Amino acid sequence: MSFTRALPFLLVFLSSWNPSAGDPRTSFVAQFCNSTQSANGPLLADYFVPAMDNLSSLVHSNGYGTTVYGQAPNAVYGLGQCLGDLDSIDCQLCFSEIRSQLPKCYPKTGGRIYLDGCFGRYENYSFFNRIFDANDTSVCNNTRKSSNSGVFTGLLREIVGNVTSSAVGAGGYAVNSASNSGSTIYVLAQCWQNLNKALCNSCLTAATSSILGCAPALEGRALFAGCFIRYSNSLFWNTYQTNSSSSGSDLPWIIPVSVVGALLLIVGFVVWWKIVRKKKSKYFEEFYQPGLTISQSNLHFKYGELKKATGNFSQSNKLGQGSYGTVYKAVLSDNKEVAVKRLLLNTRQWIDQFFNEVNLVNQVRHKNLVKLLGFSVDGPESLLLYEYFANRSLDLFIFDTTPDKHLDWDQRYDIIQGVAEGLAYLHEESETRIIHRDIKASNILLDDKFKPKITDFGLARSFPEDQTHLSTGVAGTLGYMAPEYVVHGHLTEKADVYSFGMLILEIVTGKKCSNAIGPRTGQSLLSKAWNHYRDDTLSEIITESIYTESAKDEIVHVIKTGLFCTQANPHDRPTMLKVVELLRNSKREEEFVLTDPPFLDVDIDVEEGEVSCLLTNSSAQAMSTSSSQFSAR
Ligand SMILES: *[C@@H]1O[C@H](CO)[C@@H](O)[C@H](O)[C@H]1NC(C)=O
Ligand SMILES: *[C@@H]1O[C@H](CO)[C@@H](O)[C@H](O)[C@H]1NC(C)=O
Ligand SMILES: *[C@@H]1O[C@H](CO)[C@@H](O)[C@H](O)[C@H]1NC(C)=O
Ligand SMILES: *[C@@H]1O[C@H](CO)[C@@H](O)[C@H](O)[C@H]1NC(C)=O
Ligand SMILES: *[C@@H]1O[C@H](CO)[C@@H](O)[C@H](O)[C@H]1NC(C)=O
Ligand SMILES: *[C@@H]1O[C@H](CO)[C@@H](O)[C@H](O)[C@H]1NC(C)=O
Ligand SMILES: *[C@@H]1O[C@H](CO)[C@@H](O)[C@H](O)[C@H]1NC(C)=O
Repeated sequence: MSFTRALPFLLVFLSSWNPSAGDPRTSFVAQFCNSTQSANGPLLADYFVPAMDNLSSLVHSNGYGTTVYGQAPNAVYGLGQCLGDLDSIDCQLCFSEIRSQLPKCYPKTGGRIYLDGCFGRYENYSFFNRIFDANDTSVCNNTRKSSNSGVFTGLLREIVGNVTSSAVGAGGYAVNSASNSGSTIYVLAQCWQNLNKALCNSCLTAATSSILGCAPALEGRALFAGCFIRYSNSLFWNTYQTNSSSSGSDLPWIIPVSVVGALLLIVGFVVWWKIVRKKKSKYFEEFYQPGLTISQSNLHFKYGELKKATGNFSQSNKLGQGSYGTVYKAVLSDNKEVAVKRLLLNTRQWIDQFFNEVNLVNQVRHKNLVKLLGFSVDGPESLLLYEYFANRSLDLFIFDTTPDKHLDWDQRYDIIQGVAEGLAYLHEESETRIIHRDIKASNILLDDKFKPKITDFGLARSFPEDQTHLSTGVAGTLGYMAPEYVVHGHLTEKADVYSFGMLILEIVTGKKCSNAIGPRTGQSLLSKAWNHYRDDTLSEIITESIYTESAKDEIVHVIKTGLFCTQANPHDRPTMLKVVELLRNSKREEEFVLTDPPFLDVDIDVEEGEVSCLLTNSSAQAMSTSSSQFSAR
């Protein structure tokens, strides 16, 4: 084991010691959904997704934002707010979580969600100046109570009063603490930034009287339509220590560790590491899992070198935005062209994600999967190096009608077959079962011969054999996402199969699985294809540019395979191995009958925090029509 191999671990170790690493406080507090069902779910989806996109970018840059999309009665009004103590990276992390959770209210006309670090809400009417509504409440943690109830309650009343009046005077946010007879109480108050002083004051006054009802519980939160208060007996807000360095934000996780502390840690670590090595401990082998070749020093690149290779991450070299980071084209000193993914890393969670990606991508070798060429962990951000493909991604071709971007049917067929083989490998043949979770046209890269390469394993998770599904925070791209995954967060290989089915439909029809913005002109791609299947007129949806009489039957067979993959019930969908086989047989006449319509009719009720599913009609159609990334990381 080399030191290079141990280095990432050291960095993880350091970062968990870093006193200034922020906490995005994504822990869930409460979610309320309006009880009214939208009269037009699909139309709501068309506005909901871009509204959330817009809101995210506003919140990322300002810590706060409001947005309006569409026309009544289907308009979407959105509001997002990070609490005042979060810095922009933590705010971004927190709001990403809101973005993936808020759609659980969909297709209700509105909903709001409180996390400990941020807030998000959407409605079909303008609620921006509303400070109260029927769901306003306090949540008290009654597991521990103050032993000195009288003193505690008096102190709480006083400090909450002080903090709320500071907040009203200071643009809507304040924190403070007070101690008395051995108890300390920490209080944070936040009004949404759009409210004026008077409204903020009314909201906080009402929230104060509500939260005082929590005493003598040692922790409480008031959740109001226009404001939030939390108190606790322990410090819970972020105190970023930026004073020790002028460039703290450039080097968020190294510099703030005091130099002496860092040196001591490194010395201690090296000594410990040597001892570990002497004992021939298997620790690192276990940490990295078998098959990982991170120790190969030629995989490790210097941050400065890569930064230079991308022209200081210049906008002109930007290739796109993937999960967890931005991708740039870079030219290494030996003139080799590579793609560099710049990961935002400053919390423990992100570092784990990073190693998850390095781990997975390194274990995976297949002609239809993008290879990892290297990484860098010595700079302020971690970087991953991939092969660069001149033809970039599939979405640049199939949705573009200009002749020089034209792919003929044989090329498209090869792409479909290649992606299927790559996925089958991930699901069944690689050492670790891997669910990609974000199969879509922009994640399929094309080499100079237009052979497909699946990229972006950032959302991938290794998938233990003994589990039938993973229940995770939903991430991925609406429109490509299987209904059971959107609604329940249930993740199996069949979610990839569903996304792959959507991809087939897009490749064959040249249409995106949704028109994300603007009033709908037609039915969703999926329902359209399904109707043509029922009427036995599937050949009508083939895009003109690839239609030929001789290829028609083969194309129709491929579309049917796509529909087979998008059936509502995951158990009815084929495995990817089966899909590969079906596609290979496409020249032969093999009839199969789809039994299960591709819509899962989903309705979501939130009762006492529990999400349950009923079956209704319009909603799932809506889910399959909306398209956008949840997490613009
Ligand atoms: C639910 O939505 C309706 C309008 O669709 C609105 O009048 C009502 O106030 C909303 N309820 C809550 C709790 O926001
Ligand atoms: C968000 O919407 C506002 C108007 O509601 C618009 O001015 C702004 O440009 C949009 N931002 C983005 C990033 O789409
Ligand atoms: C919100 O949606 C509900 C149900 O579709 C509708 O009855 C109501 O009029 C809408 N509210 C507004 C302000 O458009
Ligand atoms: C929110 O308020 C509505 C009434 O406007 C009520 O029907 C619903 O049950 C409330 N939801 C929760 C989770 O308390
Ligand atoms: C209540 O506080 C305890 C101890 O601080 C914590 O472990 C628990 O998760 C809290 N419960 C809730 C519902 O916040
Ligand atoms: C609250 O404010 C008052 C007046 O500004 C001050 O005298 C008092 O000490 C403050 N109390 C606490 C607990 O900070
Ligand atoms: C930095 O230090 C100065 C003086 O020591 C202090 O006034 C200021 O509040 C500190 N800033 C931060 C962000 O801690």
